[in-house]
Amino acid sequence: AQNAKESLYIVSQFAAAFFVKQLWETDEGKSIGLSYFKERGFREDILKKFEVGYSPDVWDAMTQSAIREGHKLEFLEQTGLSIKNDNGKIYDRFRGRVMFPIHNFTGRVIGFGGRTLKTDKNVPKYVNSPESEIYHKSNVLYGLFHAKKAIRDLDNCYLAEGYADVLSVHQAGIENVVASSGTSLTVEQIKLIGRFTQNVTILFDGDAAGIKASLRGLDMILEEGLNVKIVSFPDGHDPDSYMHHVGAGAFKTYIEDNRKDFILYKANVLLKEAGNDPIKRAGIIRDIVESIAKIPDPIKASVFIRESSSLLQIEESILLSELNKMRSAKS
Ligand code: UTP
Ligand code: MN
Ligand code: MN
Ligand code: MN
Ligand code: MN
Repeated sequence: AQNAKESLYIVSQFAAAFFVKQLWETDEGKSIGLSYFKERGFREDILKKFEVGYSPDVWDAMTQSAIREGHKLEFLEQTGLSIKNDNGKIYDRFRGRVMFPIHNFTGRVIGFGGRTLKTDKNVPKYVNSPESEIYHKSNVLYGLFHAKKAIRDLDNCYLAEGYADVLSVHQAGIENVVASSGTSLTVEQIKLIGRFTQNVTILFDGDAAGIKASLRGLDMILEEGLNVKIVSFPDGHDPDSYMHHVGAGAFKTYIEDNRKDFILYKANVLLKEAGNDPIKRAGIIRDIVESIAKIPDPIKASVFIRESSSLLQIEESILLSELNKMRSAKS
């Protein structure tokens, strides 16, 4: 019901404010959380804008504080902020982590991502809020509330993988950026972008997982009828690490100079994978036409067929007949 949902928004907002206060006003928060963000190169204005925080490294500090303020345990549990173990003992989901609140696009807090400060490989890097009545992760884009105006004005949306990427790209002065965060890109997330712009530029990590996710993502974006470009990052960098590596000015220039359309991007990635194997190289052509076949608008598709023809040095008629075969197989 509406009232139950409202109660979940209220406890989420309470927790966000609690984590912010911990970060800026407690010894533990300042010496551990804030210094972590500073060491990574984040500016204070960016930390404040995104309302990042710190969860103390004890069992139930947040839960106890919420209860003292009159919040009901029931709602804390429904958001996943508080967890009851088998013995009935209550503890905080987020402990000893830097906290990224997740806002819906009207700006209300609906969930959190919490990053560990440990380098221990057995500890999950991020813990996220579970699904709840107010948080459906497949329908949410991290950063959209802070980005939506710039996305409309600039008629483009940069799409990154993670929380830190969104903050760092913002810090470089690029505000039209969101992240899929905690889930692989969904159709709902693409439709959400489509309410603000028809143009998406993927900024995924330059590692094997990021490249794989970008190939999947670009096909999904094409299938939704949006336009897609891709910027890739060298040496395993992600947008966050690359921004801090080269600095804000150089980062902005890099992004602007290295947008590739999906044909060129796919050709580059697949040619690298195929090496000199002629059979694999032939497969690339089919793979690219497969992406083109996802574009609903036949006029747009034909433009990309022409481009592929000159890039891959293949007759347009051959590509067109491939395209038509795939289209009729699909319908
Ligand atoms: P990455 O592993 O690329 O992390 O995952 P990151 O964003 O670069 O994090 P930093 O820079 O080390 O802090 C990308 C995104 O996937 C989700 C998070 O949203 C993360 O930002 N993720 C990753 C999880 O939800 N859980 C994990 O354990 C790891
Ligand atoms: Mn619901
Ligand atoms: Mn990654
Ligand atoms: Mn990353
Ligand atoms: Mn990163």
